[in-house]
Amino acid sequence: MVTRTLVIVPTYNERESLPRQLAAVHASAPEVDVLVVDDGSPDGTGEWAAARAAEDPRVHVLRRTAKNGLGAAYLAGFAWGLERGYDLLCEMDADGSHRGADLPALLARASSADLVIGSRWVPGGEVVNWPRHRLVLSTGANTYVRLALGIGVHDATAGFRVYRAEMLRRLSLTDVESQGYCFQVDMAWRVIRAGGTVVEVPITFVEREAGTSKMSGAIIREALVKVTAWGVAHRVRQLADLLPGRTRA
Ligand code: GDD
Ligand code: MN
Repeated sequence: MVTRTLVIVPTYNERESLPRQLAAVHASAPEVDVLVVDDGSPDGTGEWAAARAAEDPRVHVLRRTAKNGLGAAYLAGFAWGLERGYDLLCEMDADGSHRGADLPALLARASSADLVIGSRWVPGGEVVNWPRHRLVLSTGANTYVRLALGIGVHDATAGFRVYRAEMLRRLSLTDVESQGYCFQVDMAWRVIRAGGTVVEVPITFVEREAGTSKMSGAIIREALVKVTAWGVAHRVRQLADLLPGRTRA
């Protein structure tokens, strides 16, 4: 049976980067379909994607009206892909940071894992051209996630991923509230709690050449507050399990 793969690419003001990203994806993985989830970018990204979709049957667009964050965009993309029966659902940024050339290695590992993460922070992983403050933020955030949640994932905030559709179907995604980049941590944590297997494949992450990052103080605060709350809840559950005569809620 042929594996059907959908690469979901969220966009907000990526008119300059998106054409190159789609070309890079299809140069390395010509058989995959792509779904661009655009949040009404004022720079014409959605119009470009719609025109591209009209000429290439592998390209699809979901055009939303408001910028509602990365989490909401991916949830809409997952629902679109699950409804259409794809076997593998991938996440990839539009700005060239996630190289098409790394995609086949991630897809190859998906036969033996529920979630494959393209990781900057495992041996062989690399980051090119990131300013020092981003390196510090990413390594710090990932260390905090590992300690708070007690998980072994080295790049839980990574946005280059492959999920097996069966795994996504098993997770209840209706209560995902994460809006910003902590959506990535949220999803990894859900997969792990559901007993799914997670593997990390080293990638080279290249800082964007055009456009701007959507990272903000609000995104960092949301991640800090949520990861801390998940960590505390997890420790409380662990303690409750140790108390005699108590059954798990
Ligand atoms: N539809 C939609 N809506 N897309 C969005 C939104 C949104 O609200 N916010 C960001 N995006 C899209 C961007 O257009 C881009 O394609 C992708 O999401 C990643 O956004 P960037 O702004 O380029 O992220 P970054 O480079 O700062 O952050 C990278 O590191 C994060 C932390 O490790 C990315 O790899 C993130 O995926 C990762 O979580
Ligand atoms: Mn980026």
